[in-house]
Amino acid sequence: MLNKKITSLLKEIEQTQFLEILLTLPSREQGLICRQLCNFDFELLERMKKTLDKGSRSFEKVTPYTTKRKRGDGELKQIGAELLKKGKCGILVVAGGLGSRLRYQGPKGCFPISPVRQKSLYQRLAERCVAASSQVGHPLQIAFMTSASNHAETGAYFAQNAFFGLAPGQLSIMVQPTWPVLDLKGNLFLESPGKIATGPNGNGSALASLVEEGVLNRWKQLGIEYIVFIQIDNPLADPFDPEFLGFAATAGGEVVVKAIERMDPDENVGILVKKETDKLGVCEYNEMESALRTKRDGHGGLLFPLANISHFCFTVSFVERSLSFELPLHPAKKSLKQLMSDRTSLLPEKPNGWKFEHFIFDVLPFARRGEAMIYPREECFAPLKNYQGDDSVATVQKQLVEIDRRMYASISGLPIESSRGPFELSMDFHYPTQELLDDWKGKPLPEVDYICATSRRNAR
Ligand code: UTP
Repeated sequence: MLNKKITSLLKEIEQTQFLEILLTLPSREQGLICRQLCNFDFELLERMKKTLDKGSRSFEKVTPYTTKRKRGDGELKQIGAELLKKGKCGILVVAGGLGSRLRYQGPKGCFPISPVRQKSLYQRLAERCVAASSQVGHPLQIAFMTSASNHAETGAYFAQNAFFGLAPGQLSIMVQPTWPVLDLKGNLFLESPGKIATGPNGNGSALASLVEEGVLNRWKQLGIEYIVFIQIDNPLADPFDPEFLGFAATAGGEVVVKAIERMDPDENVGILVKKETDKLGVCEYNEMESALRTKRDGHGGLLFPLANISHFCFTVSFVERSLSFELPLHPAKKSLKQLMSDRTSLLPEKPNGWKFEHFIFDVLPFARRGEAMIYPREECFAPLKNYQGDDSVATVQKQLVEIDRRMYASISGLPIESSRGPFELSMDFHYPTQELLDDWKGKPLPEVDYICATSRRNAR
């Protein structure tokens, strides 16, 4: 039964249409809904409605962020390598998204992506962590943020695969909060007769999750001082990049950003900007006036030259401070049917609605100081977003093949014939020990299509 308090609260926040639907439900379902509403953040709901009421957004005043700092500084690499050896950094990977554009039924991290072995995004990252730990002689820490819709499956996936070689103490799997999603008129609605429709609240909750789930505290006790943030759907993101860590440790701020040069003015990526306060920030491509986004400088380059790839390094104290940041709500029109795990007849035939999210890059302007370093795109950015076309399996696999070709050529010191078909390297090649470098120097590329670094040593 609906109690009076809930009925009046719903009326107060103009959810009368939703209330009418509730009144048609059997009392068991009404009871279930009531229990959810008791834990509801009505203030958040009001903020969501206000955000929608504002209608067409007024664009924030921003100026270009530019820097001449590019990767390739041996000294920084050395500093970062020392920090990795001392176990000073932990890796935070956001993996709570729905992956609706990829049309994959299951956690996006389980998507098979590597070109030969079909290793999943999770497997690749876990193996990176294992290989980087061997390289630096220290068990490095990694945490995944999942969401209610993929948390259990993710945990089971790692367990079924013996954690891909990670020691139990190296891996943390957290779960992010959920928020209500609204229909196009701004109304709550039911995902199933006893459940209010909700969805994950965006990757901006990652820092708070790290603190609130107790992972940061544990990491601090292990001596961790820096948190590297990456997204699960960018398999080129190298979380154990010593130069980037060295940059974070010497830049003297609270945040550093790995950036790439913008190619196409209409590319769907966030743009690095200076906000009114002169602080480093990011504008979503659709949250910047088109004329400004595409504007050229006097030399024909883009006036806002740098793109965000959501690869950051934060100090631990900044992550702790982040609990007090008030991040803006970003509404996105989504197909509600894709949002729901439970697809029921209660959803409208042509569903469309609003999902609200916090974005991680909105924490940047809160940093006392933030700096960016420019990396070549082909080394660090291969987003897996779509089922086909741009940023799809085909484009990502092509980039993964290319990086392995370059890596093998650099380790062996031998060129690779252009006619050679695709092959895949095990992750140890990405984090080579001195022994591996000695073993493979001057060795022509083996004929096999999966090259495991330890196979040569074991065969001796
Ligand atoms: P995106 O918003 O680009 O992708 O997330 P998505 O949600 O996975 O897929 P679509 O939009 O439904 O197609 C960028 C990164 O942020 C994470 C995602 O897992 C991805 O790594 N993310 C996104 C979260 O961790 N939580 C969220 O609520 C949203």
